[in-house]
Amino acid sequence: MALHPLIENFRQAGQGQVFAFFDELTPEAQRHLLAEAAEFDLAEIARLTATLLAPGAVAGVNLAGLAPAPYEPLPTQGGDAAAWAAAKATGEAALRAGRVAAFTVAGGQGTRLGYDGPKGTFPVTPLKQKPLFQVFAEKIRAAGIRYGRPLHWFIMTSHQNHAATVTFFEERSYFGLDQGRVHFFRQGRMPAVDFSGRILLETKGTIALSPDGHGGSLRALERSGALDLMQREGIDTLSYFQVDNPLVRCVDPAFIGWHVLRGSQMSSKMVPKAYAEEKLGHFCTQDGHLVVVEYSDLPMAMQRETTADGQLRYLAGSIAIHVLDREFIRRVARGGAGIELPFHRADKKIPTVDAAGQPVKPEKANGVKFEMFVFDALPFAENPLVIETSRADDFSPVKNAEGVDSPQTCRDDQLRQFARWLRAQGARVETDPTGRPVAGLEVSPLFGYDEDSFAEAWKKHSPPPAVSDGLYLS
Ligand code: UTP
Repeated sequence: MALHPLIENFRQAGQGQVFAFFDELTPEAQRHLLAEAAEFDLAEIARLTATLLAPGAVAGVNLAGLAPAPYEPLPTQGGDAAAWAAAKATGEAALRAGRVAAFTVAGGQGTRLGYDGPKGTFPVTPLKQKPLFQVFAEKIRAAGIRYGRPLHWFIMTSHQNHAATVTFFEERSYFGLDQGRVHFFRQGRMPAVDFSGRILLETKGTIALSPDGHGGSLRALERSGALDLMQREGIDTLSYFQVDNPLVRCVDPAFIGWHVLRGSQMSSKMVPKAYAEEKLGHFCTQDGHLVVVEYSDLPMAMQRETTADGQLRYLAGSIAIHVLDREFIRRVARGGAGIELPFHRADKKIPTVDAAGQPVKPEKANGVKFEMFVFDALPFAENPLVIETSRADDFSPVKNAEGVDSPQTCRDDQLRQFARWLRAQGARVETDPTGRPVAGLEVSPLFGYDEDSFAEAWKKHSPPPAVSDGLYLS
């Protein structure tokens, strides 16, 4: 019998092992394996093997000509208050005109948190235990009401968590959002390979596939038709954030306004690094481009460098909040003309099968996963822009089960934010020295989702509610 052309291609590319057990599979399992094998580009795998797996390929990034990137400081940090006010007004106008959509990348595997289920379903608020997705849904709904234009929300899932994510929204009636404006799509996958570039099987009939990184979101936006939908709806600006950060301003008018006024194609928020060793990427310039250099790639001596006034020289930390132009995304997604989002290698323990088809659970890294990072699009953007944000009002991710960036630290940061909003309105709130209220509190995003909207809602309350344990403002 003639060999299936795909199998022939794999053999010719030196990847015949993918079909080593093909004859043992049921016809349905064979179809499944062929479908998986058709998902990715063998030439791309060969290129990545040649560039990322060759001896000496892990030499690290090129640091020549690297310098700290400039950024727009907050008015409280010496920035131009009038320019920030103008940016905010511009952003609000864009929101009122329906030009902006929200975008959450939720395709990660969340291994560090170790939670069973899509990370967006993780309960995160201090009193009501609202899941991450609900926090964003309510912020997005409230912003739509505030600006008189309900927002579209794009959510990128993975093959692994797609069905569970959609079901979660369906079972909860989309948290009050218009279902027609919530759009789910899956990101792409890449096969894992061993250290010589041979694609690994997960079982006899499945390839070891994993999500292609948050940078895969740009390709997935194009491939899924999301960009066309945006175009039809008159949306030209996408507000990008990660699924693990409930503090994020999902659509921040000042940020959107800066992006629009500067004619930027991709803009990013920074926070000053809290200490030299903090694990954040660094905004830098190199050869006239804006780049992010990961903490693992910037030598510690450089991370510790200080300026004459004692401040960290590489101060601007990336918190993965961006605004992107629709047509810029399309250009990067299509690639060509010198534009290509690079893949990075991550050495991992990859469950696989041995030559006899028996399962192998490796004790140490046995192969490589390939991932793209969204910030690698920055060097291709015209007029890229970095603005400062206050960490307390934009960034407290849930990454780990315990310790830094954990559910506990995130709850505490939410509580501190609620306390600040209340105090700014003159409410009496008892706090500990870190600003965390002694009482348990929660503010629903539907009441207030930032300081301004909270202030407006508070002023409508007469008399204002007393702050006591268990206060839930909704
Ligand atoms: P992280 O880098 O924190 O990875 O993702 P992760 O997979 O969620 O968690 P770990 O490293 O396994 O513990 C940052 C953001 O990028 C998304 C995640 O869902 C999260 O919002 N992401 C990451 C994707 O959407 N796709 C990916 O392939 C990787």
